[in-house]
Amino acid sequence: MAREVLISDTVIELAEPARIPERTFVGRAEELQMCRVAWGVRPDGTDFIDSDVPPLSFRLEGAPGLGKNEIVYEIARRLGLPLYIIQGHEELTPEDLVLLLTPNPKAEYSDSVPALTLRASPLSTALYTGGLFFFDEINRVPERALSPLASVLDGRQYIYSAMAGINIGPPNQEARKSFRFCCALNPSLSNAGHVLPEYIEQRTLPVIEIDHPPFEDLHQIIQASLDPSPDFLSAFTEWYQQEERADVSVRQAIALMNYAMSYEQQVGGAKLGVLQKVSSFILGRKS
Ligand SMILES: Nc1ncnc2c1ncn2[C@@H]1O[C@H](COP(=O)(O)OP(=O)(O)O)[C@@H](O)[C@H]1O
Ligand SMILES: [Mg+2]
Repeated sequence: MAREVLISDTVIELAEPARIPERTFVGRAEELQMCRVAWGVRPDGTDFIDSDVPPLSFRLEGAPGLGKNEIVYEIARRLGLPLYIIQGHEELTPEDLVLLLTPNPKAEYSDSVPALTLRASPLSTALYTGGLFFFDEINRVPERALSPLASVLDGRQYIYSAMAGINIGPPNQEARKSFRFCCALNPSLSNAGHVLPEYIEQRTLPVIEIDHPPFEDLHQIIQASLDPSPDFLSAFTEWYQQEERADVSVRQAIALMNYAMSYEQQVGGAKLGVLQKVSSFILGRKS
């Protein structure tokens, strides 16, 4: 696929899609359904519904490690479409959402190669190619950096580069129809003063809350990702019930089991005892 394109007479290099981990996805039927309805995806997840109703840009909200990214990955896996991701952070600038100017290492050896390359951001690339786009941790981004999103999310479906003085949007109807936007945030950050500006909040709906999965799903995720012995899985179940650690996230539970399994193998000890021992330094103290 040609990664270099000409937009308004400007040569631009497109971004690479995200590499989605191959993984067995567990549960979350209701959350997936809510996302698919927003995006106009068929119930089996494999294609878009042929409709003129514009898709909605859903927002996943939940504490870290509960599976927000994984839900977006699963939707992209099922659709078989490239997924482009921007990771939100405090230093992000408006132009980071659009175009980046980077030195071209090949220019050193040739006069005919320009010294600088214009690179499309993951968002610009998704807009141009009609890909799926995921803005992770969007509430960590300073408010002014989000301003280019207004034209992306209000139906105009393009983004303006102040640096190049051009709009980047879909070059054809096909790309226009398949572009999708979603985002995720951890709402506890918002209590610390990081709130989304009202116009972004209203353009990233519906809000889909991602809570702790039921224990059976957690059990199955651990089984699928670490393949522990049945004894170790039983010990985990026992530990979970005994300690009443319903606050443990999926990511923490995987790390805990990973560490406990290695610990048992290398140091030894009874499985439940090992879990009790290592949980204090994997999970910290119970709050
Ligand atoms: N439904 C799920 N099926 C399989 N693995 C999951 C699921 N949800 C979460 N995980 C695993 O838990 C970990 C954290 O998930 P992630 O999506 O990164 O959380 P978040 O984005 O909410 O911080 C990942 O390693 C992921 O593989
Ligand atoms: Mg995440």
